[in-house]
Amino acid sequence: MSNQKFILPDLPFEQNDLAPIISSDTVGLHYGKHHQAYFTMLNNLSEGTKYHEMSLDDVVVSSFNDGAQKIFNNAGQAWNHIIYWDQMKPGGEKMPSGKMLEMINDSFESFDNFKEQFTQQSVGVFGSGWCWLVQNDNGLEIKGMPNAENPLAYGEHTLMGIDVWEHAYYLDYKNVRPDYVKAILDGLINWSFVSDRLK
Ligand SMILES: [Fe+2]
Repeated sequence: MSNQKFILPDLPFEQNDLAPIISSDTVGLHYGKHHQAYFTMLNNLSEGTKYHEMSLDDVVVSSFNDGAQKIFNNAGQAWNHIIYWDQMKPGGEKMPSGKMLEMINDSFESFDNFKEQFTQQSVGVFGSGWCWLVQNDNGLEIKGMPNAENPLAYGEHTLMGIDVWEHAYYLDYKNVRPDYVKAILDGLINWSFVSDRLK
């Protein structure tokens, strides 16, 4: 088995397409250096182990349950950033529609309220982590998680997620995490993609 089992997927847009909300420099570093490094580390760490034979999803769940922390950190981050890039598109879609909007209204009363709560939860993640939108039996839920943790590891269904590690926003927003999160929610989310992930 080649060491390059796990391959970083292409970005679904050009490096400068998310500017000015996310600059070309940030995408270059975040995708080209950080995201790539998680794949490189995962390939190196998993070689010769059972994880090397698994799908990326299975590595995330299995390494989390096994307490294989180094593998999980890199597999989780490899997986998390795929969602992160895939859920965005240049210009975004101003708001969701159809079933997605209905579910947001049911769970958060309004789209504006959802954005407000999502931003608050993002700010509530202490240090590095992610803010996720999860679909469960009762509807939608916003969950902040530390480091590489994601809903998949807990057997939950992910709809979208915003990276709140400083590497995601420091060049463009300095320390002002809520402005970064708001700007993505207002201007970059591909709601058709998120909606297609509904169960
Ligand atoms: Fe990141």
